[in-house]
Amino acid sequence: MSTGKRFKIACIGAGNVGAAAAQYCAEMDLGDIVLTDIVEGMPQGKALDLTQAGPIRGYNAMVQGTNDYKDIEGSDVVIITAGLPRQPGMSRLDLLEKNANIMGDICGNVNTYAPNSTVIIVTNPLDVMTYAAFKKLGFPPERVVGMAGCLDSARMRAFVAMELNTSMKNVDTMVLGSHGDTMVPLPQYTTVSGIPITRLLSQDRIDAIVERTRKGGGEIVSLLKTGSAYYAPAASAARMAQAIIRDEKQLLPCSALLNGQYGLEDVYIGVPVRLGKGGVEGILELDLSQDELKALQESAEEVRTGIKSLQDMNAL
Ligand code: APR
Repeated sequence: MSTGKRFKIACIGAGNVGAAAAQYCAEMDLGDIVLTDIVEGMPQGKALDLTQAGPIRGYNAMVQGTNDYKDIEGSDVVIITAGLPRQPGMSRLDLLEKNANIMGDICGNVNTYAPNSTVIIVTNPLDVMTYAAFKKLGFPPERVVGMAGCLDSARMRAFVAMELNTSMKNVDTMVLGSHGDTMVPLPQYTTVSGIPITRLLSQDRIDAIVERTRKGGGEIVSLLKTGSAYYAPAASAARMAQAIIRDEKQLLPCSALLNGQYGLEDVYIGVPVRLGKGGVEGILELDLSQDELKALQESAEEVRTGIKSLQDMNAL
């Protein structure tokens, strides 16, 4: 019998993204899962349902639902999805104040019950919320990381694979910057089985894929009409949890606190990160063109504007 440690993952927010993240974490056998929400009964119901899928799907995760933060005690990884989802016509920044207040409440509890955890933020506006969580948690920046680049890159990978009719698994890319209209997809770092897409697709097609990636979240919001994407966001968060729990040292685009990299300081923004058991174990500085660097810095400026609004509202 294995004597290995069983990891514990807390999913805070048991809505669409939180429940799907719990499902993916269970399917990946990352550990036991605690699904937390303020709505009574709902996380308990979803947790029981997920546990009962275990015998069929072949996972051993115990999934517990709760409204009591005490149950997240000792979690190794905390995935925060709690908040209000973006509605059609609503910008990510519109969500700022409400979600910042929710984040404050949650971070206090994470600090009390899971002070050694690594925290993955999913709540939008992503980069600003990750910065807010970093401030409210008081954790070292390595242990507070935002999920955005994984999702944006997955969207771009899917669009490239759809365009070329190739396996999704063969496509690799990096999407940097903030999780929003100013994100910075990098065609020069996009490959299919090692072949740069610049050799496989015309500039027009690449431009169209970049544009569709930028608007990827909005495209789904307008189709769903109520609520926003959840399968791919949840899969991305679970992927990051796996890299941390299994100490993979995986290079993934994530929102991390910059400290001079790319000429930026004291801002959370999407950059290539080495994710392992220490959380953000390193930030890779890619060689960017002048235009890409400028786009990244402009993207950071947008995040700073959000942070400044929170500071002006005394919400940080
Ligand atoms: N503590 C715990 N849970 C909370 C709190 C709180 N203080 N406030 C709200 N919640 C819960 C809600 O009860 C709800 O169940 O957060 C959950 C959010 O779930 P959904 O409304 O289904 O939203 P979802 O689609 O999961 O998106 C969550 O992820 O991608 C982002 O933009 C998205 O910010 C949004 C977040």
